[in-house]
Amino acid sequence: MCGIVGFIGNNCEQNLIDALYKLEYRGYDSAGISVIKDGKIDTIKTAGEIKNLDEMLTTRNSNTAGIAHTRWATHGASNVFNAHPHNSCNNKISIVHNGIIENYIELKQDLIKKGVVFYSETDSEVIPNLIYKSNNKSFIKKFISACNLLNGSYAIACLNSTEKKLYLAKNKSPLYISKLNTGEMMCASDIICFESKAVDYYTLEDGEFAVISKDNIRFYNSSFKIIKKQSSKLGKFDFSFELGNFSHYMEKEICEIPKCIDNLARIYSSKNLTEILINLNINSFNKIKIIGCGTAYHASCMGEKLLQDVLKVDVSSFVASEFRYSKQLIDNSTLCIFVSQSGETADTLEALKLAIELGATTLVITNTMHSTMAKLAHVVLPTCAGVEKSVASTKAYVCQICVFYILKRCFDSQINKKCFDFYENLENLSVLLKNQKYDYLDSFVKLLSDENELYFIGRDKDLISSNEACLKLKEVTYINANAYPAGELKHGFLALINQSSYMFVIATEHHLLEKTLNALKEASSRGANIILVTQFKNEASSMCENVKFIYLPCFDEDLMSIVSIIPFQFLSYKLSVSKNINPDKPRNLAKSVTVE
Ligand code: AGP
Ligand code: GLU
Repeated sequence: MCGIVGFIGNNCEQNLIDALYKLEYRGYDSAGISVIKDGKIDTIKTAGEIKNLDEMLTTRNSNTAGIAHTRWATHGASNVFNAHPHNSCNNKISIVHNGIIENYIELKQDLIKKGVVFYSETDSEVIPNLIYKSNNKSFIKKFISACNLLNGSYAIACLNSTEKKLYLAKNKSPLYISKLNTGEMMCASDIICFESKAVDYYTLEDGEFAVISKDNIRFYNSSFKIIKKQSSKLGKFDFSFELGNFSHYMEKEICEIPKCIDNLARIYSSKNLTEILINLNINSFNKIKIIGCGTAYHASCMGEKLLQDVLKVDVSSFVASEFRYSKQLIDNSTLCIFVSQSGETADTLEALKLAIELGATTLVITNTMHSTMAKLAHVVLPTCAGVEKSVASTKAYVCQICVFYILKRCFDSQINKKCFDFYENLENLSVLLKNQKYDYLDSFVKLLSDENELYFIGRDKDLISSNEACLKLKEVTYINANAYPAGELKHGFLALINQSSYMFVIATEHHLLEKTLNALKEASSRGANIILVTQFKNEASSMCENVKFIYLPCFDEDLMSIVSIIPFQFLSYKLSVSKNINPDKPRNLAKSVTVE
């Protein structure tokens, strides 16, 4: 999930650092830079965030070639020894790597026998040493033949001390190249690094290689043959990263939810998208599978519930990493829907490729229209949430649910000949949410700030919301919050409940209220401190004693999962800040997960 960048030209170090900040969403365990200086590789690296590296840099404006890296550790602790760039043991070759080299142990043992000394625990350090030990004559042949030995995923940028050039390789992890408007050369894990600096860029595909010099980009295949590639135009994207008056992106992004819903409703009313939706003839599919990871998986589960409501064919949701490794009955009558904020998540991407291979029609719901998933899928639906920077997904999750809601209305209109209309309801939701106040959560922050464990129960959509609330709490507060189906309480986990347990009960579906309240009573009889989250104020308060409440406003049951999740997004945020955690950059995580 690391971010890599390479640059040839003026102000090399400064350009590399500026680009690294844009890639910080890919990891922030350590950062490092290598440039060619006086015919030698000069490497500086440090543990922790990019700003630490920024502070260490004394030179900013060399006219040279350089590479830089921001790490999310997969192999080896997040310390300075494992920070990239990694250099060959003779210090003449330096690389940055995003991905995982799956056969690195075997390669490492072989290199050790050949006298190579290793300084890190990473898988990546084999790469410069394989190049160093290659018997080929030219550097490009050494580079390609070394990469041909690697199994796994990689985007690699490489420098050697004798040339002002960048050598690039790619398999699965993304890598882009651009000649900037100023004539300088840049490669990076994400095209956001080229923003306002270039008009077009090249996408390196799996198995391709590139050599970039001061004024030339040359592409090769794995048999060392030169190949031709077409560039793509760098479109206009919403790259606005301004924090404004907010303290953190997480808070800003939750506050943007009403505006995002409003925006999404307007965009989906446009002729273009309405046509795409209508052309997606639901009657031609005999099953629907919905796939995502983390929060996007929770949106997939919500999608399953919404779509199954109106469809007569089977709808099921899957965690992408499980979907890939279980037998899937997929053919050309299957619709596979993939949900991903980034559009780059490795497991979801591989699941998408599998579904395409098996002949399914694929639909991607993504917030990143220039992403790899958006390029590969047959149909792409935007989430229209704008850039989401905080690691914890909030506004994108809400927008993913809105897209499923629109899909439900669309399919309902196709099947039951109803009118296809969603605009008014989403507009009303946006207005309702705009008027909500969440100050009451401060008392819950006080109540829960010393808790290490929290319980959640719910049924149906409320169970999915409970799971999502727990994920938010885990990510940004490190509290071990766990959700269970309300009906499962008595089948085991009730044994964990005592007078010091705090339990949230989410109940927004009227037909399940009584049954959920039974479970609430069972937990409360064992002493649990209950917080009931519901819009059924009168009924619930007359049935429950010794219970704290979070009262929700009433809205269409299909969209109540949005109304009920926002208090938990805010609660997680507020608890995080009260614990002095940076909610935008929780430990061990990264925004974009591009390794399997
Ligand atoms: C959400 O808060 C998490 N950071 C994480 O679970 C995320 O939703 C998951 O990694 C999927 O990302 P994607 O939507 O970009 O595919
Ligand atoms: N495997 C490499 C490391 O641990 C790169 C990790 C990544 O791309 O996330 O340093």
